[in-house]
Amino acid sequence: MMNVGEVKLFIWVSSLLSLACISVGFTPVDNYLIDCGSSTNTSVGNRVYVSDISNPRFLSTSRNIFANNTASSTTSSPLYQTARILDGSSKYSFPIQKQGRHWIRLYFFPFVYQSYNMSMASFSVSTQDFVLLSNFQIQNGSLMKEYSVNITSDRLTLTFTPSDNSFAFLNALEVVSVPDDLIVDDAVQVKSSTGYQGLLTQALETVWRVNMGDLAVSPLNDTLGRTWIPDQDFLLNKNLAVAVSNIPAVNYVNGGTSRDIAPTAVYGTCKAMNSSADPNSNFNVTWKFNVEPDFQYLIRFHFCDIVSKAAHQLVFNVFINSLLIVQALELSDKTFNVLGAPVFMDFVLGLSSDSKIVVSIGPNTVGGAPPNGILNGLEIMKMNNSMGSLDGDVSATTFTPSSSHKKMGLVVGAALGVFFALAVVVLFFLCRRRRLAQHHGSKTWIPLPINRRGNSHSMGSKFSNGTATSIAPNLGYRFPFGALQEATNNFVESWVIGVGGFGKVYKGVLGDGTKVAVKRGNPHSQQGLAEFWTEIEMLSQFRHRHLVALIGYCDERKEMILVYEYMENGTLKGHLYGSNLPSLSWKQRLEICIGAAKGLHYLHTGSVKAIIHRDVKSANILLDENLMAKVADFGLSKTGPEIDKTHVSTAVKGSFGYLDPEYFRRQQLTEKSDVYSFGVVLFEVICARPVIDPSLPREMVNLAEWAMIHQRRGQLEQIIDPNLVGKIRSASLRKFGETAEKCLAEYGVDRPTIGDVLWNLEYALQLQEANETDEDSINQIGEVSPLVINVNPVENSVTTERLGGSTLGDLSGVSMSRVFSQLVKSEGR
Ligand SMILES: *[C@@H]1O[C@H](CO)[C@@H](O)[C@H](O)[C@H]1NC(C)=O
Ligand SMILES: *[C@@H]1O[C@H](CO)[C@@H](O)[C@H](O)[C@H]1NC(C)=O
Ligand SMILES: *[C@@H]1O[C@H](CO)[C@@H](O)[C@H](O)[C@H]1NC(C)=O
Ligand SMILES: *[C@@H]1O[C@H](CO)[C@@H](O)[C@H](O)[C@H]1NC(C)=O
Ligand SMILES: *[C@@H]1O[C@H](CO)[C@@H](O)[C@H](O)[C@H]1NC(C)=O
Ligand SMILES: *[C@@H]1O[C@H](CO)[C@@H](O)[C@H](O)[C@H]1NC(C)=O
Ligand SMILES: *[C@@H]1O[C@H](CO)[C@@H](O)[C@H](O)[C@H]1NC(C)=O
Ligand SMILES: *[C@@H]1O[C@H](CO)[C@@H](O)[C@H](O)[C@H]1NC(C)=O
Ligand SMILES: *[C@@H]1O[C@H](CO)[C@@H](O)[C@H](O)[C@H]1NC(C)=O
Repeated sequence: MMNVGEVKLFIWVSSLLSLACISVGFTPVDNYLIDCGSSTNTSVGNRVYVSDISNPRFLSTSRNIFANNTASSTTSSPLYQTARILDGSSKYSFPIQKQGRHWIRLYFFPFVYQSYNMSMASFSVSTQDFVLLSNFQIQNGSLMKEYSVNITSDRLTLTFTPSDNSFAFLNALEVVSVPDDLIVDDAVQVKSSTGYQGLLTQALETVWRVNMGDLAVSPLNDTLGRTWIPDQDFLLNKNLAVAVSNIPAVNYVNGGTSRDIAPTAVYGTCKAMNSSADPNSNFNVTWKFNVEPDFQYLIRFHFCDIVSKAAHQLVFNVFINSLLIVQALELSDKTFNVLGAPVFMDFVLGLSSDSKIVVSIGPNTVGGAPPNGILNGLEIMKMNNSMGSLDGDVSATTFTPSSSHKKMGLVVGAALGVFFALAVVVLFFLCRRRRLAQHHGSKTWIPLPINRRGNSHSMGSKFSNGTATSIAPNLGYRFPFGALQEATNNFVESWVIGVGGFGKVYKGVLGDGTKVAVKRGNPHSQQGLAEFWTEIEMLSQFRHRHLVALIGYCDERKEMILVYEYMENGTLKGHLYGSNLPSLSWKQRLEICIGAAKGLHYLHTGSVKAIIHRDVKSANILLDENLMAKVADFGLSKTGPEIDKTHVSTAVKGSFGYLDPEYFRRQQLTEKSDVYSFGVVLFEVICARPVIDPSLPREMVNLAEWAMIHQRRGQLEQIIDPNLVGKIRSASLRKFGETAEKCLAEYGVDRPTIGDVLWNLEYALQLQEANETDEDSINQIGEVSPLVINVNPVENSVTTERLGGSTLGDLSGVSMSRVFSQLVKSEGR
């Protein structure tokens, strides 16, 4: 026990310390404040919410829809003036500098914008680990949802998933660090003799945060930006309590409860018992709060004796749901007799089917103290359930199929596993198909793809036996089959210049002597038919120096034939490895990459809606007689970005080794998926090896992974094509490596646009050509790394290697989509 003098000194010192605390305050390390859909930054008090239009790097969404509330509605906060419509699964992704607990605050205010009536929106919100909202709807007024989540990775991803046929919206968003000591690991467990442990890993949702004493506290008066609402509406019998305010009495004793736990406006006000209602105060003061049943709740009481004149004058009982949880609470005992020192207590209330929580204080006169009791503040926080959800029985993996940050290797491993399983399915399907064909004869309904833009081929379906002929115009020249037979010497094997999943590509010479490439689709593939028309549509609309040109097509007699300009020098892949073609110089390679990037740039930006190629790889970059690059194979292209609505396992399209891991995980398709694949091509160009080579040691199998390891260590030059060693200027190599590395960023939002990539490649070319006399900057790797020698010069695509090829044919060029599409069809039967 301290004597009076000591106490005075102690209070004096701690007051000084607490003054120091006021001026310092808590500075959150991570502090993201976003005003969604706003074109300007918005200040609320001293906090600036950044416009997410001018600062779009955190959001990846399929379409940018900015809603501006023009109706003269009375919204309390400027944050509610604008919103983002999130049409399709969308993600806000934030780098986290300091792991630990963070606020996630979501602001909603539904209004009507164009065809979007936000009162009708229904959607789910999840982090990597927790579900915050599921099938959430808000019809009326404004609402702020506050969560505190312990983030244990270096990134927080908030996924917004619209319910079927609906959309999501958001007016503002906060992701802000919380002091580590705000939530401690243990609490008292109501109705249990043991304590509760494990709060550190709980996600919490603030359900009620109430300041007893009839004073509302705005975020501006709270060091952690919290809102405290007055308690009046929760009091069961309003006559039994009186409000007391004595803010100067609050004394944050150093080392005790700080103002980050709750501000002076909370501790300096309270509800006490109304002794004029009954001089003996033989009653309880009770508050009732509605809560969602079947969740556990963390209940935090805030006490601060601002009513007593001396210590030990206040003793009372505390109840939760009529259970006595603290008997004869004497605050002085907890504060070393310092009056006005704040105290908080945590209780965990177990699962219950009750939809209310009732909290009471009542007198305890055992020690002869005057009958009184107080409560200063109360917080009720919902705890995540065993599925990691704060709303409904769903887990976060429902919205993010593979939630953890898997390494590429794992993804590829999984992809390979799936691939082999699929190979079996394909075989099964092929056999089955043959049998079905025998049953039904040759006349089958084949649906044509639904017209995407309304201006090209306009049929819904037709008989595939060649009887239907009319095709809407503007799709290029429609060749008679006979003309193509003639041009290709009747499709003689010796004129085959390429084989892919779609079919074979023949060299051809038209009647006027024009050389062409004739791609003849396998007439049995329905998926092929869809891709056939996609490609015709795409190539008819998009013409560019760096896109391979479509000359015409033939759809006579079930044929699916595409006729392209002839690309004298074949594929980029063919020039990199697996052939006897002379090695390309570094400058040639850069120019080819630049050309291909220009083609993709045109696709991404050349029309109102971006076109995503979806199958960017070195085998789809063709070279004309001057080694000018043109992007080919648009069978998988999509206007986008968009979300594949198809079954998850069927959604991922593209080619092994080039697949964007984010697309693979989340089926979200954006231009940045092409950027990823293009980054792999860049590494392929400089390393001159297959993107997947199962014959190599494990860590080398996947080029993207292997090259990134070296690039990150600044050792890319150790694994470059031996033909380039000593020929690349180090600045050019560095620029090129950095560019490729950025393309392979784990998250699409962190990747550059193809326009940036293009610019950087051009810069790398300049760096190569600049100031030839500066010899020191040419990389001088004397000896070739033994790892490079290990690279098998023969193409080792996983498919040819493992599947043997004899039954399935050469699948090395097969895109995953084709295999997956077979799965869809066999599932559908
Ligand atoms: C919303 O619209 C109004 C009027 O059309 C305009 O003045 C205002 O700048 C817009 N606000 C934002 C944040 O875009
Ligand atoms: C908004 O604030 C951010 C960060 O403070 C700043 O970088 C940006 O320039 C501001 N934007 C506008 C439109 O004022
Ligand atoms: C977050 O959780 C981890 C355990 O996953 C724990 O070690 C850490 O202390 C927690 N941090 C906070 C601030 O609760
Ligand atoms: C928007 O939806 C709400 C709820 O369904 C409805 O009451 C309201 O009339 C709708 N507003 C408009 C403009 O359609
Ligand atoms: C919407 O607001 C109106 C008026 O404020 C109120 O009468 C109505 O009950 C509210 N509806 C819902 C679903 O909250
Ligand atoms: C909030 O802070 C302002 C300025 O610091 C002060 O004038 C006001 O009284 C405070 N309000 C509350 C409820 O504490
Ligand atoms: C306290 O109780 C008396 C007697 O019932 C009543 O008149 C008075 O309004 C109460 N005070 C408050 C603040 O409710
Ligand atoms: C206060 O509430 C508790 C729990 O409901 C009850 O047991 C107790 O009798 C009440 N006290 C008074 C004075 O009404
Ligand atoms: C909440 O989620 C965490 C982490 O997933 C888990 O450890 C904990 O058991 C969950 N809480 C409950 C009450 O099930």
